[in-house]
Amino acid sequence: MQVKLVPSGEQYEVEPGESLLDGALRAGLNLPHSCKGGRCGSCRARLLRGEVHYPRGRPAALTEAEELGGDVLLCQARARTPVAVEIREVREVPDVQIKSLPARVQRMRLLAPNVMGLWLKLPSIEPLHWLPGQYIDIMLSGGRRRSFSLANPPHDGGLLELHVRRTGRGEFTKQVFESMTEGTLLRIEGPLGQFVLREGTGPILLAGGGTGYAPLKAILRHAIETGVKRPVTLFWGARTRDDLYEDAWLAKLALDQPLFTYVPVLSEEPDARDYAVGFAHEAIAPRLASLAGYDVYVAGPPAMVEAVCGEAARLGADPSRVFFDSFEYAPDTIARVGGAKLDD
Ligand SMILES: Cc1cc2nc3c(=O)[nH]c(=O)nc-3n(C[C@H](O)[C@H](O)[C@H](O)COP(=O)(O)OP(=O)(O)OC[C@H]3O[C@@H](n4cnc5c(N)ncnc54)[C@H](O)[C@@H]3O)c2cc1C
Ligand code: FES
Repeated sequence: MQVKLVPSGEQYEVEPGESLLDGALRAGLNLPHSCKGGRCGSCRARLLRGEVHYPRGRPAALTEAEELGGDVLLCQARARTPVAVEIREVREVPDVQIKSLPARVQRMRLLAPNVMGLWLKLPSIEPLHWLPGQYIDIMLSGGRRRSFSLANPPHDGGLLELHVRRTGRGEFTKQVFESMTEGTLLRIEGPLGQFVLREGTGPILLAGGGTGYAPLKAILRHAIETGVKRPVTLFWGARTRDDLYEDAWLAKLALDQPLFTYVPVLSEEPDARDYAVGFAHEAIAPRLASLAGYDVYVAGPPAMVEAVCGEAARLGADPSRVFFDSFEYAPDTIARVGGAKLDD
């Protein structure tokens, strides 16, 4: 079935059962998206012509009124007929070639009690070109996938660095912590996503919750490597000191780099000296009275992302300069568990 994008005029085909977003990614068109689970709203577009349907029902990020008004979520919508959709957001992020590749686990290191660092080696004849902040999918059986951000910037691309948080009863992360060994062979697909450092002149605010630090590390290292002359402030929120697994490196970096400020934030250590106390979003206003003119990058658990985005709006950030990656669970998990509460 054919899909036409307006105003660019680009066209691509979707296979039966394939979402409009997956078809675009397969065609090398990096359309705006984040969670791919119908929950973040990043892939919102407007249906100009044709008919779509949602096999799993109307997604969480689309109200009935919005659907009636013509909005569609490309990550969930399937075409019933040839369609034309308008992508209102100006696409600032270049298209990159998305590859499906084998990747060997070269190194594993426990970074924090529930965070494993994985370093993946790709075949030497298949280099991966990505933009700092993007993520990859690790492919499981039956076409299911699990998303993880690349924590290293492209200039240091010998191995792919991932920071994997163990989730409650999560299938893949359980495997990482309990049975994976160095040498394990995985299949990955990527690079994916629009959460990348944009051109600009204003100061940059990075806010990460837990392993939401991973894509911010890539952005930060890239900004330093390429000599970006903009002040960068990182707020990194976690529960305890152990969870801030690169705290010492960041504190030293802040001493060495005059344009970089690091604010570690702990929610469960009220007496920790030299740390902000509370949640990441609460630590911003006491240090930055206004975010007018800032570019804001937020990554981490959905509730944290929502809180920081809300605070950024309250502090005057331009909504079109607030970028986020919401670490939603995988589409198959969300579909399987449905409306039931997922354990953390
Ligand atoms: C763009 C993006 C980037 C991301 N980057 C990172 C990253 O860099 N690092 C990182 O750590 N995470 C990241 N994530 C989140 C990561 O993808 C998920 O944590 C991961 O998919 C979990 O996989 P899993 O197989 O272990 O868990 P799943 O099996 O998918 O389970 C997820 C959760 O659901 C619960 N659950 C499953 N079944 C049930 C059930 N029947 N009833 C109740 N609860 C249930 C599990 O206990 C678990 O807590 C990212 C997500 C996105 C969308
Ligand atoms: S709702 Fe489609 S990418 Fe998040």
